[in-house]
Amino acid sequence: MKTVYREDLFADRVAIVTGGATGIGLAIAEALLMLGCDVVIASRNRKRLLTSARGLSEDYGREVLPFTCNIRKRPEIDALMDATLGRFGKLDFVINNGGGQFMAPAAQIREKGWNAVIETNLSGTFQMCQAAHACFMRDHGGRIVNIVADMWRGFPSMVHTGAARAAVVNMTKTLAIEWAKDGVLINCVAPGTILSTGMHNYPPEVPEAAARVIPLKRLGTVEEIADSVLYFLSPAGSFTTGATLRVDGGGSLWGDGFQIPDRPDTGAGPIPPWPEQRWPQHVPDE
Ligand code: ADE
Repeated sequence: MKTVYREDLFADRVAIVTGGATGIGLAIAEALLMLGCDVVIASRNRKRLLTSARGLSEDYGREVLPFTCNIRKRPEIDALMDATLGRFGKLDFVINNGGGQFMAPAAQIREKGWNAVIETNLSGTFQMCQAAHACFMRDHGGRIVNIVADMWRGFPSMVHTGAARAAVVNMTKTLAIEWAKDGVLINCVAPGTILSTGMHNYPPEVPEAAARVIPLKRLGTVEEIADSVLYFLSPAGSFTTGATLRVDGGGSLWGDGFQIPDRPDTGAGPIPPWPEQRWPQHVPDE
């Protein structure tokens, strides 16, 4: 992995990356290490976490702290903050990348599945922000980046994560305003379709179908997402807060891989037009 940033840019900085053991989170952790940052990677899966932390430590010659944490549980988040401050004495950056979802039509999502996605992607992200603010950033400032998604035109097949990510975008604006006084800058990165470990959760035709409707005609890379996160953490991002950067090759501006389903052939005929008579046009007074 190469970087366009100065190699000691984040010397003496400390970052937490959730979901830091795989995919986009791992690329973000790696990009930070490359710039001299101390990194804590957090995730639920201890085995993957230990393997990734060991690999990163070996590659960059610096201890990477793995911390098992379910962001749906506030006591575990508080323990993550304590461990970070205990080991490194400060917390400059939080990258909220940990999250999860599954593909399902809205009509088939059960209450438990809905709640799980909202609790992880929305509530977990909020709890991370609040805990980081309370334990260190309120008194010392800091930067937070929330990783969201390309849900701008609705998110068919993943209504739960679309709703949660859109809420995170709005939450980010609120926190940017409330915590500006504390020197906390908080922004979002909204990746489009990215070639990463998460891709195997989707049907095999997804990557090619997605690339066809992205103006840049390809999927993004995890390194491209990591670089955009670095922008928000770097001095270049010092006047940007409450913003969301779409890193999607223009995908959110154009076509969609989702096929709008046809109306089932129940014999009821096409969707009737709304009767015009019920809403008479307003005729302005002469
Ligand atoms: N990544 C996906 N789900 C997570 C969770 N609940 N906690 C931390 N990282 C996660």
